[in-house]
Amino acid sequence: MSERTLVLVKPDGVQRGLIGQVLSRLEARGLKLIGLKLMQMDDALATQHYAEHTEKPFFPGLRAFITSGPLVAAAFEGEKVVQIVRNTMGATNPVDAAPGSIRADFGVDLGRNVIHGSDSPESGEREIALFFDDAELLSWSRDTEPWIRE
Ligand code: RTP
Ligand code: MG
Repeated sequence: MSERTLVLVKPDGVQRGLIGQVLSRLEARGLKLIGLKLMQMDDALATQHYAEHTEKPFFPGLRAFITSGPLVAAAFEGEKVVQIVRNTMGATNPVDAAPGSIRADFGVDLGRNVIHGSDSPESGEREIALFFDDAELLSWSRDTEPWIRE
């Protein structure tokens, strides 16, 4: 079953010049990109995107950070992409993330962990709808597919 996931290169990743390296790891792993844009979140979008966290003590800081500058939003599609992206990202806190994961290799702090990835296929659909219009999502067939998935 194909599913879709939202990836954000968060404002720290953009400020630090890591957009290419972060996207490159997902692309090299074999994930199929179906949407991509540079944008800035406002408070309303941050509140919708992080709806599960709005009552938590860290939310004001999280909202201030995530709206502080441009970010890159990307949508990927394929079997198990949610889990594949989460594993490639590493644990939420870069201190605990496995070496080789994006959060471990590019970060040291829970509040500056460079990348977001949806936590379930349901979240993926919900979050992609917040960041992309249908017309911005491309359904395309990739010539290399047989070399990536059996
Ligand atoms: P994300 O949603 O950003 O991809 O991260 P995640 O699923 O791995 O972690 P989540 O629990 O959804 O938390 C969202 C972001 O909030 C910050 N956070 N701070 N101070 C704290 O206890 C705390 N807990 C979470 C992190 O920056 C995390 O990415
Ligand atoms: Mg999350």
